[in-house]
Amino acid sequence: SVSIPVVTLDGPTASGKGTVAARVAATLGYHLLDSGALYRLTALSATRAGVPSDAVDALASLAAGLDVRFGDDTIEMGGEDVSRAIREEAIGLFASAIAVHQPVRDALVARQHGFRRAPGLVADGRDMGSVIFPDAPVKVFLTASVEARAARRYKQLKEKGFSANIQDLSEALRERDARDTARAAAPLVAPQGAHRLDTSEMMVDQAVESVLGWCRDAGLV
Ligand code: CDP
Ligand code: CDP
Repeated sequence: SVSIPVVTLDGPTASGKGTVAARVAATLGYHLLDSGALYRLTALSATRAGVPSDAVDALASLAAGLDVRFGDDTIEMGGEDVSRAIREEAIGLFASAIAVHQPVRDALVARQHGFRRAPGLVADGRDMGSVIFPDAPVKVFLTASVEARAARRYKQLKEKGFSANIQDLSEALRERDARDTARAAAPLVAPQGAHRLDTSEMMVDQAVESVLGWCRDAGLV
């Protein structure tokens, strides 16, 4: 699978990774991996099973045993559509708390590699370019100001019908950024050779065009 091209998009919460990844994948006709969803799914099953964020072995076996199916607009776990449940901000926060554990991360590696199928893959997360697909021909590191990201996440949660508060969101976002960046296991960093894109002042279309431009430069299109 090593010759199959991968485009990696890493960056902090609400920098636009998921949105841009989906658009780039649709344009190129590539598969899509939302790696954050795997951490959120593990967090959701742990929450439901009453497994605390420091029970490393139990968390790793939940991660290894995830029974998940990614559809176009749904994510099913054990046959239940949990695509909405995993978007709760509390689940995102819990996901970042369990993502610090190396055994939890290890339990998800093979599953992530399994998404690399012809004709190609667009993968978004925190360690796609640095750890999971280090040989990816196109790596992108997305950033945006805390203010822009909090405003985006607020709008997104409201549109989904969740209650949200911009102050609480900014704080949760800073807490998650700090933990994701400071952790020893696969910290959030701009990978070697990554193109950096600050989307604070950018429309989604512009961000997508920049990434597609780098894909063209790399000969993927
Ligand atoms: O995946 P990640 O958490 O990085 O962010 P996302 O869920 O893709 O994006 C958060 C929100 O910001 C979405 O509603 C996007 O439409 C919006 N967005 C934006 O307004 N401008 C951009 N340049 C990128 C994303
Ligand atoms: O949508 P948002 O960017 O807020 O978060 P996400 O991508 O769904 O990821 C949720 C949490 O999972 C992050 O805060 C990270 O701690 C963790 N994560 C990770 O450690 N490695 C990844 N490749 C993706 C997510």
